[in-house]
Parts: sequence; structure tokens; C-alpha cells
Amino acid sequence: LRMDSYLIQMNGNSDVHVHRNGNSLSLGKVKSRKPRWAVRASEMSKKTFNPIRAIVDTMKVEPNPNKPMISLSLGDPTVFGNLPTDDEVIQAVKEALDSGNYNGYAPSVGYQSCRQVVAAYYSCPEAPLEAQDVILTSGCSQAIELALAVLANPGQNILVPRPGFSLYKTLALSMGIEVKFYNLLPEKSWEIDLKHLESLVDAKTACLIVNNPSNPCGSVFSKSHLQKILAVASRQCVPILADEIYGDMVFAECKYEPIATLSTNVPILSCGGLAKRWLVPGWRMGWILVNDRRDIFGNEIRDGLVSLSQRILGPCTIVQGALEHIIHRTPPEFYHNTLSFLKSNADLCYVALSAVSGLQPVRPSGAMYLMVGIEMEHFPKFENDVEFTKQLISEQSVFCLPASCFEYPNFFRVVLTVPEEMMVEACSRIQEFCERHYQGNEGAQDLECDK
Ligand SMILES: Cc1ncc(COP(=O)(O)O)c(C=O)c1O
Repeated sequence: LRMDSYLIQMNGNSDVHVHRNGNSLSLGKVKSRKPRWAVRASEMSKKTFNPIRAIVDTMKVEPNPNKPMISLSLGDPTVFGNLPTDDEVIQAVKEALDSGNYNGYAPSVGYQSCRQVVAAYYSCPEAPLEAQDVILTSGCSQAIELALAVLANPGQNILVPRPGFSLYKTLALSMGIEVKFYNLLPEKSWEIDLKHLESLVDAKTACLIVNNPSNPCGSVFSKSHLQKILAVASRQCVPILADEIYGDMVFAECKYEPIATLSTNVPILSCGGLAKRWLVPGWRMGWILVNDRRDIFGNEIRDGLVSLSQRILGPCTIVQGALEHIIHRTPPEFYHNTLSFLKSNADLCYVALSAVSGLQPVRPSGAMYLMVGIEMEHFPKFENDVEFTKQLISEQSVFCLPASCFEYPNFFRVVLTVPEEMMVEACSRIQEFCERHYQGNEGAQDLECDK
């Protein structure tokens, strides 16, 4: 056995010479590094952009000092203290903490026993799940991030609802994935425009995001509509990323169908978590359920998810330790009471704003939001929904998010988790505001003539 000997030489002009067993080979010049400070934010950070922050930051206006602020903008049900989680949920975390068993690192995909609990809870004959089909994550946001990262490469595209939750676009663009928006139809209770959806699919489409029940619409898709969505995905062979964080949060007259239970062949990554239904968004417990009855994802996607989960460990171990009790011991009345509260606020807000000239609220069927259309032609003083909602803060101290935040101008979103008396007061202030600024057709014409 002969050992080759190498000598690598670099002269003062950065010329590189490799000597192998005495024979010299020149590799030419390499760039020398001249040390100097040039620390720049990465391309990824520059491509990361949260439209809500960008729009809200331009809306910094002083509220009316004579009216206490009512914020109907944050999708956090805990902010007013009127919707505490259930005592059993708190107790479960106390027990997990006291046990001392949950202070170490958990496996990157979560404890096997917790994955088993989630699998058993969501498993059904039409969409069976086992522990290995569950990945526990840090909130539903990380579930969406991992699902996107495993399904799409930079340069591919994803289909995203408009209006829709802004995180999809924020994550995709920062990963170099293109976003194509498909339309939801307010006149059809925010069903998907299926023709438009299908027209967007191309060779680079990596997945279709379906958010049901919806933020910001509060809409809930019927079984037959979900079947039609699945038919598009099946025809086009596009997997679905189902954002079901508001799963089961539907009002009594309506039924929630997890999309995977209706799928015969389309593979689905369903993202969910504790944040909304259990009213503990700060606890950062989420999950991905891998529904793949035809073995289309196979090991490829499951292994990919496991690898991605290893970048940063998922949810807090204390909450993992409490998960079994949270899921099994939360009494049915807790879910029921939350939903009747939301439904009552939804009715109240819908009825009040329906009576306001110039506004077109769309009745929600679930989640915790209501979208309101603004007939901008009757409010000629305001250029758009951002100007409208900005002035609403400054005159009435009521803050609603302009739906431009959800890629849907000329609407605003109301959060329904506020205490009832605040909801009533907010609606009456919105009414006062609209009455003050509404211009009937004649008024609008006058303004045209004034120009
Ligand atoms: C539609 C939707 N998906 C995902 C999330 C993120 O949930 P989490 O707080 O568990 O990350 C939210 C939060 O508001 C949401 O509205």
C-alpha cells in the first residue's frame, strides 16, 4: 500500500499550488479575505415580512381621549380575562410540573405517549391515526412551518386562501416558495371559488392550504364543499395542508368535518393545537396529523418531518406532560360554554352591524371572527379599509384590523372574544362613526362635483 503525500502552498499573491508526490499543480488564485466588519442581516431575514405588522405600524393614531379604547384586533382569547381555560386544564399542568417528570428533553417529535393520546383522540375509521402519524410542535404555527418545509422546495408554489391568515405567506416567502392566492366568495359564506382554485394549479404547485374553520372569515365549510375541494386536489394530484386550529369550534347549527375524514385518496397534513379550543395560545402546543390512507406520502414525508423536527425541539415538556389529562378531562360544558359565548357575540355583532348603512357583515358559523364589508363608495372620504379603520380609532377608540392584512381590501375583521358589554359598546360606536361619514348616492355625487 502506497501513501500519497500532498503539500498545499499559497504564495503572497494568493496563488495556490498543490504538490502530489513531488509533482506540482497550480490551482490559480483564491480570494483572500481582508478582515473588516461587514455584518449584514441575511437574505432570509429580509424576505421575512409580516403584513399585519407592516399595516398596523402605519396605523399609529391617537385614540379619542374621551373614549376608552376597545381593541377588536387580536386573535388572542385571553386578553380580556373573560374566557379563562378550564380548571382541569390548569390542574393538569400543575400535576405535570409537580411530578418532576417533565424537566428533561423530549424526543424531537414529542413523547411517544403524547403522540399516542393525540392519535387516539383524532383517529376515526375514515381517517385512522397511529402515534407515528403525529408530530408535536411548538404551536400550530410550527406545525404549518414544518408542513410547508417538507412539502415545498424553493421555486415551487403553494395555493393560499384570500382572505386568509397571513402566516402562510410570511413563512412561504421567507423560504423562497411562491404564493398563489385563490379567492373565497363572501356571497357564498366564504366558500372557495373552485374554478379559480383549479386554474392556479401548475407543474410547480406543491400543496393546497385549506383553512377550516377560517381566520379571518369565521366560515365553516359544508361536507359537500369539502368534497369538491378534495375532488380538485385529487384531479390535480396536489396534497393538502389543512389548517384546522379552529377545528370543532363551530356553532350549534353547523357540523365540523375534518377534511381528512372525507378524503379517499388525497394525502393531508392536518395542523392543529391547543391554542384556540382550549384557550391557551401562550402554551405553544400544536401538532401535525399525517393522513395518508393510500400511502402517497409514504416514508418520504414522514421521515422528512422527523428530520425537520430535529432542527429545534418542539413543544414545552410540561405541557406535553399535561396533554393526556387536558384532552381527556376537559368537560364537554367547557367547549359548549365557549361556543355559546362566541355565538351570542357573533349574533349580537352581526345584527347590530347589519343595520348600519354602508356596512355588509358576513354571518360567521364558527371560529372567533366576523368579517365586515365596507361599501367604500359611501365613504368617499376614506381611500381604503386602512384609512377607514384608522379614523375609527381616532374618533371612536375602536380598533379593528383592516382586511388588507388578509390580502382582502375593503373589509375589516372583528374579534368576537371580547366581553359582551364591550361588543355592544363597540358596535354602537361603529354605528355612530358610519352615520357620521356615510354619504348616500347624492352625497357621493356632490363630492364628485366638488372636485
Ligand atoms: C388560522 C390560524 N392558523 C394558525 C394559527 C397559529 O396558532 P398557534 O398560536 O398555535 O401557533 C392561528 C393563530 O391565530 C390561526 O388563526
